[in-house]
Amino acid sequence: MLIQNHTASASILGTGSYLPERIMTNAELEKMVDTNDEWIRTRTGIQERRIAAPNETTSDMAAAAARAALENAGIEAQEISMIICATVTPDMFFPNTACFVQAKIGATNAVCFDVSAACSGFLYALEIARQFIAVSPEKTILVIGADKLSSIVNWEDRNTCVLFGDGAGAAILRHRAGGSGIITTSMGSDGKLADILYTPGGGSAAPTTSENVSEKLATIRMNGRETYKQAVKAMVDSSQQALLQAGITIDQISCIIPHQANLRIIETIANRLHVSLDKFHLNLDRFGNTSAAAVAIALDEAARTRNFKQGDLILLVVFGGGLTWAASVIQW
Ligand code: ACO
Repeated sequence: MLIQNHTASASILGTGSYLPERIMTNAELEKMVDTNDEWIRTRTGIQERRIAAPNETTSDMAAAAARAALENAGIEAQEISMIICATVTPDMFFPNTACFVQAKIGATNAVCFDVSAACSGFLYALEIARQFIAVSPEKTILVIGADKLSSIVNWEDRNTCVLFGDGAGAAILRHRAGGSGIITTSMGSDGKLADILYTPGGGSAAPTTSENVSEKLATIRMNGRETYKQAVKAMVDSSQQALLQAGITIDQISCIIPHQANLRIIETIANRLHVSLDKFHLNLDRFGNTSAAAVAIALDEAARTRNFKQGDLILLVVFGGGLTWAASVIQW
């Protein structure tokens, strides 16, 4: 059964991802902060994460993921009409990271911009792409989630430094006659809770000064317990909303691809949605939380390993700083 959209649908033509070579294990973190492998594994499910090289930028990783997606889709970079890059660790404030990717992959015909929605960025960008294609079905859009969180982590703060990693994931969207693609997306934000997960410095509120640098204001601050609570609620609610909008039930979903923040968060969501954990595609044990990249990398991995068939229904669900959250139902 193919679910019918009333506007031009946006199908996923190909996916790709990139993870830096360097693996940082929990044992390595034990030497840096007062933590241990057992604590990290039991509280988060993370065993190791990838860390970009010092000279490796977010756009380097994004471009590598984009090249893999182009190859997977079997198209040339010149066919891309738009690049949307979701990131909170841009190469620099401006130009935007998507412009750097454009130059690196030779997508000379693309319009380029970034989306800032922390860990929810990839689904926000995917939905923007879907809406563009709905009114301009001739467009081919490259959507990327890429983050180098290692560049904004306080490596002396055990509350946060054990959680994050670096990477990039990409998807190419195009209208395909008879295809369904992204069926619906449920999105939400709550700016009142901005201060449970944020980087206070480095922007116009607290521009970089030598004092700010010594206070590490441009690194991640997080209230872990509150973030945990909000993440569970937002991801359960948005999943249910997206299923309702698509007119389907969770039993019809063949794979759930969640934001890869914490295994316990995902287990709680599975419980509340009354669905087996086997349905979730997980890689946080190997990559940790890579912010906007996480769900994009997991989508690429799932697409390559789970043998999706045409018509399969997939649920993607994310949560991040802002607060921001989203859930999308996709038909393969
Ligand atoms: N190693 C050892 N002990 C630690 C560590 C660590 N790495 N980090 C914290 N602790 C200590 C705390 O200091 C605290 O000690 P205390 O009781 O002496 O004060 C104790 O462990 C318990 O701390 P809690 O915060 O209560 O631990 P909790 O069980 O809640 O787990 C965690 C902490 C893993 C951060 C959890 O709250 C969580 O996962 N929250 C969500 C985090 C998240 O997903 N963030 C990102 C989501 S959005 C996005 O991706 C941007």
